Amino acid sequence: MSGINIGLGNNDTEIRREANSDFITFWERQAKNLSWFSTWKKTLDWSPPFARWFVGGTINASYNTLDIHQQNKADKPAILWEGENGESRVLTYKDMWTRVQKFANVLKSLGVQKGDRIIIYLPMIPELPISMLACARIGAIHTVIFSGFSAAAIKDRIDDSKSKIVITADGGYRRGNIIKLKEVIDEAIKDFDFIQNVIVVERTKNKINMSSKDMLWNELMHNISDTCVAEKLDSSHPLYILYTSGTTGKPKGVLHGTGGYLTHLYSTFKWAFDIKDSDVFFCTADIGWVTGHSYVVYGPLLHGATEVMYEGAPDFPDVSRIWKIIQKYKVTILYTTPTALRMSMKFGDDLPNSFDLSTLRLLGSVGEPINPEVWKWYFKIIGKEKCPIIDTWWQTETGGMMISALPGLETISLKPGSGTLPIPGLNISVVDETGNDVPPNTKGYLVIKNPWPGMLLTLWGDDEKYRDVYWSKYKNCYYPGDYALKDTDGYFWLLGRADDVLKVSGHRIGTAELESCIVSHHDVAESAVCGIPDEIKGEAIIAFVVLKQNVTAEALILEKELSIKIRTDIGAIATPKQIYFVTALPKTRSGKIMRRLLKGIANNETIGDVSTLEDGAAVTEIQSAFDELQKSIHKKSN
Ligand code: PRX
Repeated sequence: MSGINIGLGNNDTEIRREANSDFITFWERQAKNLSWFSTWKKTLDWSPPFARWFVGGTINASYNTLDIHQQNKADKPAILWEGENGESRVLTYKDMWTRVQKFANVLKSLGVQKGDRIIIYLPMIPELPISMLACARIGAIHTVIFSGFSAAAIKDRIDDSKSKIVITADGGYRRGNIIKLKEVIDEAIKDFDFIQNVIVVERTKNKINMSSKDMLWNELMHNISDTCVAEKLDSSHPLYILYTSGTTGKPKGVLHGTGGYLTHLYSTFKWAFDIKDSDVFFCTADIGWVTGHSYVVYGPLLHGATEVMYEGAPDFPDVSRIWKIIQKYKVTILYTTPTALRMSMKFGDDLPNSFDLSTLRLLGSVGEPINPEVWKWYFKIIGKEKCPIIDTWWQTETGGMMISALPGLETISLKPGSGTLPIPGLNISVVDETGNDVPPNTKGYLVIKNPWPGMLLTLWGDDEKYRDVYWSKYKNCYYPGDYALKDTDGYFWLLGRADDVLKVSGHRIGTAELESCIVSHHDVAESAVCGIPDEIKGEAIIAFVVLKQNVTAEALILEKELSIKIRTDIGAIATPKQIYFVTALPKTRSGKIMRRLLKGIANNETIGDVSTLEDGAAVTEIQSAFDELQKSIHKKSN
C-alpha cells in the first residue's frame, strides 16, 4: 500500500473485531465510559429509520461535561479564550460549572422547562457554551444559530422552533467590525408573540435598544444561586436542534438526542485525537455549525480537555492569526478546515514558518474535501512531517465523525486526500443508482447501512421529511448525499455533494434556498445557482438570473441589489461570486433545470458527456440550450 505510514503506536485491533461482529454490544461498551444516572434496559431500539439508543437509561450532558471533572480537574482550564481584539479569558472546569449552574437557574427563573426550545445567537464567547450547557442541564433544547446569519434567515428558524427565549449579545467582533447582533434579533422577532425574553450579553458595549422583554446577562447572573442539580434525562431526550441547508428552500431542523450522541462524541474524540490530559486542543470551527457543537463543546469537555476558543476571523488582523494562537497557547492538536489552510497556503510558507508550531502533534481537517496538495502542505509546513493528519468525514446529521483515521486507536497508513476507514461499528459502502456496491475505484453514492449512536433522532416536527430526505433513496440505508469511491485497500475518498447542496468555505448552502431568495426580487423571473471550483473556498457560487420582461434597470445595479438581498435574506456567506443575466435557463422536457450544464458553462467547459445529464433531455435540446445560453451570456458581457 502506498501512503504515509504514521501513527501514534496505538493498536487496539480488538475494538474493530468486536465492532464488526456485533456493533450493538460494541456501542454498549463505549456508552459505559459515560456517567449514567440509571442504566438502559435496551441498547438499541431500531425501527427504521428511527433509532433510539440506550433505551430507559438516564443521563445529562452538562453533568458529563462538568460535574464529573470537579473532583480531579476543577482548577484545570477548560477554555482558553482568545478575543479577536487580543483580549483573553481563562475558564477552569470549576468556573464553567459555577456559571452553567447559575445560568441554568436564570433560565428556570424565567419559566424555562424541560423540552422548551432556546435560541442562542451569540458570537464565539464563553457565554455561548455556557448557555448551551445550561440548557442541557435542565433539559431545554438549545438551537444555536450562526451569528453570521441575517434577520430573515434566523426568523424562519425561530419560528420553526417556537423558542420562548433568545440569548444574544449587543454585538460581536468580526474582522475588526462590530456586528450588531441585538439589532438583528430585534428585527427577526418583531412579529413573534411567543418570545418571552431576550437575554443580552454585553460584549462590545455598543448602544442597543432595550425593550420590556430584554434583560442583561450580567444582571441576571448577579444574585442567583450557583447550585442547580442536573436533570435526569431520558437517553433520547433532545439535546439540540441545529438547522442546516438541504435541497429544499427551507432549512431542516436536525434533532439530536443525548445518550447516543454523547457516546459517539466521547468515542470519536478519544480515537481520532488520541486525547491526553496534557493536550491543548484547538478546533477553529464556529459553534454555530455542527463541528463547533460536537468538537468545541461536547467532545473536548466530556474528556476534561483544555481547549482554545477563538472569537474572530482566522485572517484577522492577518492570515497568520491561527499560527500565532498555536504559538501563544502551545496548542498540541489542531482541527481546522481546508478553506482556512488554502487561505494560509496562498500567502506562502514564510508566515507559518515564522511561528513556533513545535508543540503540535496531531492535525485534523473537516467540512469539505481536502485536496492532496493542501494535505501535503499541512503535513509538511504545519506538522513538520511528524504529525498524523486526520481527514474526518461527517455531517450535521451524523452528529460525529464517520470516516477518519484514528491515531488514538490504531496505526494506519495515511493517503493524502483520503478519509481512510469508517469508524468502528459502521457499515459504509459506495453503491450505484440501484443500491449495489460498485467495484473498487469506482465513483458512486456513499451509504451507511446500519444505525450509529450519534445519528439524528429526526427532523424537528417533520418525521416524513426525515424519512424522505435520508432513507428513501435506498431501502434501510442512510443516504448522506455525497459521492465517494473506495479504493482497493478499502480506503474511502470523498468526492463532494451528489445533490443540490453547495459547500462554500465548508459551509452548507442549499441552491433552492438561494434561488428562492433571488426570485423574490421584483425584477427576477427565474434563477438557477451552481457551484464552481474556487482556489480558496473550495466552491464558489454562480447565479444565473432571467429577468422579467420590460425590466430596464442596469445589470450592474441589479447585480448589486441582488447581492444586498442575499446578504439580507440569508447572510454574507451565500453571496455569489458572479451573477449572470441570461434570457432563458436550459431545462429538461420535464422542466428541471440542468445544473451540470450551467456548471460547465460557468467553468468555460465544453459539454462533452451530455448522455449523463437528466433523463428526458434530448442531446440536441441540450446542445441548443447550451449554445443559446452561451450566446446570451456573451451578449450581456459585451
Ligand atoms: O459533503 C460532505 C462535506 O460536508 C457535508 C456535511 O456538511 P455539514 O453538515 O455542514 O457538516 C460539516 C462538518 C462535519 C458532507 O455531506 N464534508 C464534511 N467533511 C468532509 C466533507 N467532504 C469531504 N471530506 C470531508 N472530510
